[in-house]
Amino acid sequence: MALPSSLEWTGVSLKLLDQRRLPHQEHFLDLTCWQEVAEAIVAMAVRGAPAIGVAAAWGVVLAARDGADLEAAFSGLRASRPTAVNLGWALDRMAQLLADSPEASVDQFIALASWIEAEDRRLNQALVDHGVALLSPGTRALHHCHTGGIATAGVGTALGVIASAHARGLLRHAWLDETRPRLQGSALSAWELGHLGVPCTVIVDGASGLLMRRGEVDVVLVGCDRVAANGDVANKIGTYNLALAARAHGIPLYVCAPGSSIDRCTPDGDAITIEERDPEEITSMHGESITASGVRAWNPAFDITPAHLISGIITEFGVLRAPYRSALADLPLADQR
Ligand code: MRU
Repeated sequence: MALPSSLEWTGVSLKLLDQRRLPHQEHFLDLTCWQEVAEAIVAMAVRGAPAIGVAAAWGVVLAARDGADLEAAFSGLRASRPTAVNLGWALDRMAQLLADSPEASVDQFIALASWIEAEDRRLNQALVDHGVALLSPGTRALHHCHTGGIATAGVGTALGVIASAHARGLLRHAWLDETRPRLQGSALSAWELGHLGVPCTVIVDGASGLLMRRGEVDVVLVGCDRVAANGDVANKIGTYNLALAARAHGIPLYVCAPGSSIDRCTPDGDAITIEERDPEEITSMHGESITASGVRAWNPAFDITPAHLISGIITEFGVLRAPYRSALADLPLADQR
């Protein structure tokens, strides 16, 4: 069964799949101004680093179309989520158009946002092809968070590799971390792999160590929100624990990173801003409190996996290996800022 697209420009608005309603409802939002796009990113109606970058580009289109204050639109969209560099990647390109052509027409903004969306699809597919080439027949892959098609404009990154491995007869099973607190694994990855007919099982995040110890995992595949110049990676909270467990069990962990997630201007993981979200995401579930009143919670949305725990970084250019600083420096990417 075909998956719905994460987003679509209708010509007058941005039609956005509301990921908060999945897996039970395929509900679309109709966003008509840049502020609504920024709110959708903050609230995680759209999420996944590549998808929020593409959505932000369309947010700029709406601002240009409405004759809104473009500086306010750029800074409002840029501030919507701090960790994923894909947001800056897309917005820098839109800002460059304005810098090069201060009188740029709405059609020029539309053409550039369409290019950004198409480029994301291209990067996804190239990355997936390199990733799947790493896998042997019978692979049992463990995945964290959600990195599939609806986290991007295309086929996804790490989950795209898993889906492609299944299509090519290489995948025996996919283990999906449920991914507390927002449950991207159980709500989104399991739904998406179900659509694609990929055999998978959801586990609680804490079960991965036992699974590895029992010899049930051949490879760990994750996405990322930002790769620093030294190869340290920011990804969904829990990735670091997974990387430590994988290393302890001698299991390779690969990070899937399109060029839009690579930030050579940030020297290392410690320099990456980690988004901290409302503690209520931890203390309640589906609007119901699950802790005693007054219980405190700390809710970092991402963590940093140091480069030395990463077996390879899968990009659209191929699979990078340590030492990552030089491998990343050699990539033919346009740097941000
Ligand atoms: O907070 P989220 O759900 O946006 O976090 C998503 C992740 O951590 C993904 O691994 C990453 O954005 C890559 S999506 C292709």
